[in-house]
Amino acid sequence: MKTIIEPFRIKSVEPIRMTDRAERETLLEQASFNLFALKSRDVILDLLTDSGTGAMSSEQWAAVMRGDESYAGSPSFQRFEASVQEIFGFEHVIPTHQGRAAEHLLFGLLGGAHKVIPNNTHFDTTRANIEDSGAVALDIPCEQAMDTASSYTFKGNVDLEALEACLIEHKGQVPLVMVTVTNNAGGGQPVSLENLRAVRKICDAHQLPLYIDACRFAENAYLIQQSEPGQAGRELEEIVLEMFSLADGCTMSAKKDGLANIGGFLALRDDSLAQRLRERLVVTEGFATYGGMSGRDLEAVAQGLREVLDPEYQAYRHASIRYVADRLALRGIPVVRPAGGHAIFLDAGRFLPQLKWNEFPGQALAIELYVQGGVRSCEIGSLMLARQDPETGQDLPARHELVRLAIPRRTYTQSHMDYLLEVIEEVWSRRATIAGMEILEAPPVLRHFTGKYGRLPVVPAAEAQPIQ
Ligand code: F0G
Repeated sequence: MKTIIEPFRIKSVEPIRMTDRAERETLLEQASFNLFALKSRDVILDLLTDSGTGAMSSEQWAAVMRGDESYAGSPSFQRFEASVQEIFGFEHVIPTHQGRAAEHLLFGLLGGAHKVIPNNTHFDTTRANIEDSGAVALDIPCEQAMDTASSYTFKGNVDLEALEACLIEHKGQVPLVMVTVTNNAGGGQPVSLENLRAVRKICDAHQLPLYIDACRFAENAYLIQQSEPGQAGRELEEIVLEMFSLADGCTMSAKKDGLANIGGFLALRDDSLAQRLRERLVVTEGFATYGGMSGRDLEAVAQGLREVLDPEYQAYRHASIRYVADRLALRGIPVVRPAGGHAIFLDAGRFLPQLKWNEFPGQALAIELYVQGGVRSCEIGSLMLARQDPETGQDLPARHELVRLAIPRRTYTQSHMDYLLEVIEEVWSRRATIAGMEILEAPPVLRHFTGKYGRLPVVPAAEAQPIQ
């Protein structure tokens, strides 16, 4: 059958409040054109993030009722630990309230001044935690990742030559190598098993540990199963075990492929590092058998980690995302190809070529998607990721100007995807008249969360570039 159907029935619903365009314009002014400042009740399709926004299954809700809230030694922790050990193969499981807490613990011990930590592309919280420790967060995505239109499947891969060069140049300064699966900041693109194996080999040669940022491990495994030569016949569980057998540990946000609304963990093999991490855990997160989570959350994650490996769920999720990306591409709308695992990424640099990088085409496009149809998305471009040139102190552009339409798990239906397509097409048809944005106020780190922006004057229609 060609029609994509959700492989679940809906048991509980949450109404969506409809707004009109004039109301949304006012709301945007009040939010200083920062979509993070909008109230969620003012959003029709909330694609800001796929993190913690998914729907839990009836089995997860049943597990929530089993949650045991004992301070120490809760059976809920034992179920959580068993799930993580079984799926990822790491002995030590350290619960944290979400992914960034795991990062904070890890880099608090392994980061520090004069250290360099390479990754295909650090997610913004990972980067912030590394930089907060005094270390340098280095992005080394493969060359194919530079071209958003290239159909190369594993654009999440690490540039192996750049990794070698980094380890030689910064000998003695690299405490660990990281790989993010899937590469969120780079377009939600997967990393191949072949690339992971090669990274492991390089780490072995330099005697360095490899940690995986595991947030979207199941989506990455599905894309390996579907596209990597020789992987088609393997179960997702088997692929996941092989991926993590190549690593020394991982950080995880259970808000993504844990199918939960909160939670995370750090998992690893090194006994003495685990001991030191647990000592830090108790200071900032909580006791070793709950970290920053409640017994209920531990149960929801233990169950979610198993459900996310359901092949039918993965097939539907990827088909639904591909459906949107393929239709956009057919209409010539610039979208990152191939579709990533958790989101559709519009290439705002090519969507709004009349805007310079420091007029923030990604933010301008995200704002228009909200104006047009109440769709909330997220800029992943120079507003979020611009860096200061260490020599001149001037801002340098991000690699790409993207807008991410992240799809919450099991939350929206296929008709929501059709609505999304219609909204994007409407904005595309009036793209030539879309003006840029300016920053009015912004904090020095993670500025996209709280910054205040303004619209630059609209280009008069007569001067606008013709729409081809
Ligand atoms: N690593 C990656 C690749 C992520 O995408 C995120 C979160 C984190 C780490 C941090 O996890 O939120 O639980 O602390 N990404 C969310 C997003 C926020 O919208 O992509 P967290």
